[in-house]
Amino acid sequence: MDSEREGVGSGDATSIVTGAFGFSGQQIAKRLLLRGDKVRTLTNHPQPGSPLFGRVQVSPLDFGNTAQLTESMRGATVLYNTYWVRFSYGGLSHEYAVRNTRTLIHAAEAAVVKRIVHVSITNPAMDSPLPYFKGKAELEQAIQSSSLSYAILRPAVLFGEGDILINNIAFMLRRFPLFAIPGTGEYRVQPIFVDDLAELAMDGGQRSDSYTVDAVGPETYTYTELVQTISRAIGSKPLLVHWPAGLVRLASGVLGAILKDVVLTEDEIKGLMADLLVSHGPPTGRTSLEGWIKSHAGTIGNCYASELARHYVSEGAGKNSRPGC
Ligand SMILES: NC(=O)c1ccc[n+]([C@@H]2O[C@H](COP(=O)([O-])OP(=O)(O)OC[C@H]3O[C@@H](n4cnc5c(N)ncnc54)[C@H](OP(=O)(O)O)[C@@H]3O)[C@@H](O)[C@H]2O)c1
Repeated sequence: MDSEREGVGSGDATSIVTGAFGFSGQQIAKRLLLRGDKVRTLTNHPQPGSPLFGRVQVSPLDFGNTAQLTESMRGATVLYNTYWVRFSYGGLSHEYAVRNTRTLIHAAEAAVVKRIVHVSITNPAMDSPLPYFKGKAELEQAIQSSSLSYAILRPAVLFGEGDILINNIAFMLRRFPLFAIPGTGEYRVQPIFVDDLAELAMDGGQRSDSYTVDAVGPETYTYTELVQTISRAIGSKPLLVHWPAGLVRLASGVLGAILKDVVLTEDEIKGLMADLLVSHGPPTGRTSLEGWIKSHAGTIGNCYASELARHYVSEGAGKNSRPGC
């Protein structure tokens, strides 16, 4: 074992994971439990149906109660933070999520947590006009100036069991005769398998040095290639059309009204088209998206995955609702 891996968090330790019943948090928590850690999750959506339920301690993710947040983290060595909001909705903006995350970082410091493994985004920038990318850059800076040692992981797009983007592209491809691509579709994406991200998080939790790394898979696709790859794998061949971004946004709005969700925001389209979801470094994940899609061709996109149902509908009132199933 090298000196940078002397077990800040490994075996018999207590680890904190935000959203251990969520998409990436679940994969991280699962691995921590396998390693023998005790896991405490901060979440507002405990899932009695989850295989992790009863195996992780649950505390609320209540940013209005710093004392409780601090107490929830006391005795833990590493905080694995996946908390973020995908888009501004219902009064919960990215600026608000930045404030909340700062509160979480301060609570971790007060609880004398040693280290944070933080999930960010590829190409965050303080001067980005996109609040998602600007907010992530602000948080990276806040972590760097905190008392915690850190591993900052920057994924581009995640795929795997329970993802939203890849699943919902497949959903649309299965159901509609047309699929609209904003602009040329030549901008790129470099997706990483959620399990590979969780492996990077495990490594990040065990090391003691502070570092930042892109979390990206071995394949880079143009957006058009990504859609074609999914389309081929699921055997659905709607006409791919290239529309101006504004028109795609309009169509997403109409679809969102039907599906009772926010399908794609203007900022998400801008981030995609600005080539921000790709790394300039080497791949850090190893799983092929194409291979994964092929092995899940029968199931991906059969049900719509709703962001609003997951995060905005109150517990028991449709979190698992899957329109279209
Ligand atoms: N998914 C991707 O393709 C992707 C791509 C690039 C970067 N990332 C980054 O990866 C991290 C994890 O993403 P994920 O998809 O795994 O996230 P997720 O499971 O949907 O959510 C992770 C955590 O954020 C909380 N959360 C999410 N939306 C919220 C909202 N609107 N209001 C309050 N709390 C909310 C969840 O709370 P509950 O536990 O209460 O549900 C959970 O604790 C994020 O930091 C994201 O920016 C994701």
